[in-house]
Amino acid sequence: MTKETKTIWWNDENNSVMMIDQTKLPIELVVIEITSVERLAEAICHLEIRGAPALGVAGAFGVALSAVSCVSDAKFVETVAADAEFLRRTRPTAVNLAWGIDKVLRSIENLPSEMAKFFAVMTAKNIAVDDEKCCMLLGYKGASLLPQNGTVLTHCNAGALACSTWGTALGMIRSAHKMGKKISIISCETRPLLQGARLTAWELSHDNIPVTSIIDSEAAYLMRQGKIDCVVVGADRVTKDAIFNKIGTYMHAICAKHHNIPFYVAAPTSTFDVDAVEADITVEERGRDEIAAFFGKTTLPDGVPIINHAFDATPLDLVTAIITEKCVIYPPYDISSFRQT
Ligand code: MRU
Repeated sequence: MTKETKTIWWNDENNSVMMIDQTKLPIELVVIEITSVERLAEAICHLEIRGAPALGVAGAFGVALSAVSCVSDAKFVETVAADAEFLRRTRPTAVNLAWGIDKVLRSIENLPSEMAKFFAVMTAKNIAVDDEKCCMLLGYKGASLLPQNGTVLTHCNAGALACSTWGTALGMIRSAHKMGKKISIISCETRPLLQGARLTAWELSHDNIPVTSIIDSEAAYLMRQGKIDCVVVGADRVTKDAIFNKIGTYMHAICAKHHNIPFYVAAPTSTFDVDAVEADITVEERGRDEIAAFFGKTTLPDGVPIINHAFDATPLDLVTAIITEKCVIYPPYDISSFRQT
């Protein structure tokens, strides 16, 4: 994907939200149009749109959609507030979703409904544009940390598809590639929903960046063999003491530490939750169907219980640096100055 290719955008003609349906990749590239808050919530729950920064934009567009579709001036404030709460509950872990929703809500506080509709759309569009800027800056700042020649391991998809465009972890990789660095990527497939295989491998091969796909449990052995020079992942939430990201990230961080391999986290400051600690955060747990079957075939006997956390927490002492759009942060980490507005 180029920086001009968007994952999610506002359609002025119809006052609707357009997005790539990520559940269809890599088989087909399908763009869908969303015209109601209910359908947007469904798209978020089913991961048609996913990835922390993209969820921030989706939440913002959701409030705008609610505002522009509200026909009653008398019920405007309560309708938009109820829709915002409904959207907020769709996925609890990525802080960007609530952040995007709140930013649009704040921008329309105490405004008459006609004006609020205009400001809601404008603020939401600005969030999408700012996300692009953040990714470009973060990518540029982070690229210098990547080797001139080498192999980078990544997990899940922190690419253009997880943002408005360009990506965070993959933004660093794209920028490094543009600078002429000869890097190749190991993309962990990311069970159970295969964001690494379906999305990261698709994005990178599309951009002619060398990428090899592995099953998640291959990573430790490749590190042991000296085949990985560094790890770069994204984040769904950065608290005072931990990084929340796709399940499996913690395992890679421990292995990287054991093998003396740098472990980098690419996260725009919209992902920072400066007052929270790990214990405060709800980690989304998803359904049995995601792990009790593979390619439509049942792989687990009936009645066997499952655990399906969508994310895990990596303590900050395993993180070599956090790359943001503002600066690169090194240990000892103090994120208090990155409070969001
Ligand atoms: O469940 P998903 O696909 O929304 O999980 C996404 C991730 O874990 C990403 O790594 C994270 O959101 C960072 S995206 C820049």
